Amino acid sequence: KQLGQSDLTEEVEKLLSFLPKKNGWLTSAPLYQFQNFWYPAIQLQALLNIQRNFQALDTDLVVITNPKCGTTWLKALSFAIVNRFRFHFDNPTSKQNHPLHKNNPHILVPYLEYFYMIDQNPDLTCLSFSTTRLFSTHIPHAMLPDSIKDSKCKLIYLCRDPKDTFVSFWHFSNKLRPKNTEDTSFEDAFEKFCEGVVDFGPFWDNVLGYWKMSLESPERVCFLKYEDMKKEPKIHLLKLAEFLGVPFSVEEENDGVPEEILKLCSFDNLSNLEVNKTGKIAGIGFSVYFRRGEVGDHVNHLTPEMIEHFDEITEQKFLDSGLKF
Ligand code: A3P
Repeated sequence: KQLGQSDLTEEVEKLLSFLPKKNGWLTSAPLYQFQNFWYPAIQLQALLNIQRNFQALDTDLVVITNPKCGTTWLKALSFAIVNRFRFHFDNPTSKQNHPLHKNNPHILVPYLEYFYMIDQNPDLTCLSFSTTRLFSTHIPHAMLPDSIKDSKCKLIYLCRDPKDTFVSFWHFSNKLRPKNTEDTSFEDAFEKFCEGVVDFGPFWDNVLGYWKMSLESPERVCFLKYEDMKKEPKIHLLKLAEFLGVPFSVEEENDGVPEEILKLCSFDNLSNLEVNKTGKIAGIGFSVYFRRGEVGDHVNHLTPEMIEHFDEITEQKFLDSGLKF
């Protein structure tokens, strides 16, 4: 179901009337600024419900990203790593029947927000499809519920060069925006992104929150960059498996299991699966999650001035943090 204004509770409606509001550009829905971050109304409702009612378990694994940073890829990899003892790669039938052949990664590793958009206290038993609960969120670090902050659950955060993230966002928004709504120009979208006005933004603040947590609590947060993963996928896959508490054995490495997982989750493989070419959720085709899957595509879309402006913001925001792109 596509959720809208009519699904908001009275409490949220009232809160929205006090919040700064700007036109969104991902869809036609406006964005509201709540405690320094921007959200569509229905996401804000989900956030409040999660903060109040979600109970994390120490065994939970949470995939966290800014939108368009490679969430789909990270979900596929995390799912394949954690469930590899159930869907073996050394058995041809089991390999053939792997859930990723028939399901989009967003179905196998769902967003926590989806459960809480219209249900204050939803039934989360379906998350236990995995051996542990594996789910995802875009919630900024500062807004995480205490239940997650205080538990021992593990967070996997993936970030990406903001220039490529913005370009990916732009293409995604063009596919999502209903035909009868007014177009946002590329320049307007660029300015909004730079100002921080984008779903779950400001982008840089979202990244910094998890970067700092990863430095303070490396056992809780595995901080990954899309560019590093593209460059050295196997090294990062091994790192991720180790962090998740299920390192690859020497035997698995000798049998080429890491390579099998990388192949299964690769852009070429996932984007060509029937489910991802024709499947849909809430009216949105899964194909929108696959475009080029490359590093550096921003040079084909941003002017040298835009690139310079982006890099200046990044340098300023990440100054003294040790984080670089
Ligand atoms: P581009 O638009 O630059 O191609 P998200 O999953 O967070 O929505 O991010 C989408 C971006 O990740 C898109 O980037 C998409 O093409 C890319 N992507 C999707 N699946 C991928 C995969 N298996 N490997 C690498 N990149 C992938």
